[in-house]
Amino acid sequence: MPAPIPWYQTAVFYELYVRAFRDSNGDGHGDLRGVIERLDYLADLGVDCLWLLPTYPSPLVDDGYDVADYYGVHPDYGTLADFEALIEAAHARGLRVIADLIINHTSDQHPWFQASRRRQDPYTDYYVWSDTDQKYREARIIFLDTETSNWAWDEVRGQYYWHRFYRQQPDLNFDNPAVQEEMFKVVRFWMNRGLDGFRVDAVPYLFEREGTNCENLPETHAYLKRLRALMDAEYPHAILLCEANQWPEDVRAYFGGDPNDPTVPGDEFHMGFHFPVMPRLYMALRRGDRTPVVDILRRTPPIPSNCQWCTFLRNHDELTLEMVTEEERQWMWAEYAPDPRMRLNLGIRRRLAPLLDNDRRKIELLNSLLFTLPGSPILYYGDEIGMGDNIALPDRNGVRTPMQWDSSANAGFSTAARLYAPVIDDPIYGYRRVNVAAQMANPASLLQRMRRFIAAYKDLPALALGDLEFLDHPDRGLLGFRRRYRRQTVLCLHNLTARGIQVQTPDAYDVLANLDWPGGPLTLPPYGYRWLVVR
Ligand code: BGC
Repeated sequence: MPAPIPWYQTAVFYELYVRAFRDSNGDGHGDLRGVIERLDYLADLGVDCLWLLPTYPSPLVDDGYDVADYYGVHPDYGTLADFEALIEAAHARGLRVIADLIINHTSDQHPWFQASRRRQDPYTDYYVWSDTDQKYREARIIFLDTETSNWAWDEVRGQYYWHRFYRQQPDLNFDNPAVQEEMFKVVRFWMNRGLDGFRVDAVPYLFEREGTNCENLPETHAYLKRLRALMDAEYPHAILLCEANQWPEDVRAYFGGDPNDPTVPGDEFHMGFHFPVMPRLYMALRRGDRTPVVDILRRTPPIPSNCQWCTFLRNHDELTLEMVTEEERQWMWAEYAPDPRMRLNLGIRRRLAPLLDNDRRKIELLNSLLFTLPGSPILYYGDEIGMGDNIALPDRNGVRTPMQWDSSANAGFSTAARLYAPVIDDPIYGYRRVNVAAQMANPASLLQRMRRFIAAYKDLPALALGDLEFLDHPDRGLLGFRRRYRRQTVLCLHNLTARGIQVQTPDAYDVLANLDWPGGPLTLPPYGYRWLVVR
């Protein structure tokens, strides 16, 4: 008997920003009860696992990634009881739930930091303090548009503290065993509320060492392996998903096991985001050339058989261009962010549909790649209906606007007079045109296509579990590949260009069109795609 397939290897994920989803109490902020009201929608869409963005109490300098209390829920979102009720209601519908775990840093409002700056034990060494701001100079700055140093001066303590993100997010000192234990406590607390795991935030930066760039250090891996051991021992059903915006060979290390032998099971993260493939999908599409995608996936090392990549087109942050060359970044900015307001740090703060000029063919094409290339797909809320963005809002808020449920006031999101952010209300992406209700009623809508993708994905284990072999078609505008698992072979064809491309195909079943394909020459229309199950 082959070992059962772990659930996360075949799951479709949905990234959900609670503040934006549904306001159940009319205060203008989405909340946990609101998510419960919309669980049937998510179950109907066909996703398997929700990833909740942070819901901790927070001053919201970084929208909840600045945690002020690890054991609570932000009052805008509800209560701990609501959190538990959401997990229970999700489970009742067969949906799993993971949440953000923010271990690298806290808010500067966290009581630990307030005590640490006053040198109050046991918190004195909970953060990374220094008399000089000249240490760890090889560490890059991540929030480049805002910060000029990873050190900030604290008047009260009379020392500098280390922060990889906003200055209001001091890094915890993982060299302190008490900090390591605190995080284990936090993990147990939330796992005991019923979660199915965590998306672990910003994992490469836990430790600092002079003479290094302070990323991916052996000490960081050692700690993360202890975290995994805790999960395996106490919560074996649950997962850890690694957020490491790094090159494939560096992310490979976060799966653990033996880097030279993928048959050795992973003992660190179950899953890891594949950051570098994402911008290359946009590059390949704009250039009409598959090369960037093929190259990065050929360069991606095999991962242990108990692990899985996570792939995505967009998320709650800027579309990061950290994992491309300087020349590619300039090109991506010129192509996809012509207005300087669309740029943020080393990325592009826009949503999927506007990035693709709202061209339905291109939106489907990239989603088809999301579902057919290796890795569990993650959808970002609102992208399933082609929501737009609002570049007038600061930071990454422009891609975090209220979910557009229907054409009624406030897009059916809330009954409040004032919302946490305005609903999108322009002639193209506005809620009167782009909303769930309208697309539910229209069999030809993007939403219905997304439901179809998800359903077909579930019917085809080769897409989740199969190996990958690229077609060597003479036209580089054709991105074609076979996914093979046990006796199933799926031929996936994508035309990255605005012209027709002819491909020779075998006798097959065309899954999305639901028809038999006799084999022979097939002309893919501009930006067309096919999923063919080979006979
Ligand atoms: C999250 C960001 C956040 C940062 C700091 C990132 O990886 O996705 O939204 O600002 O971590 O916590």
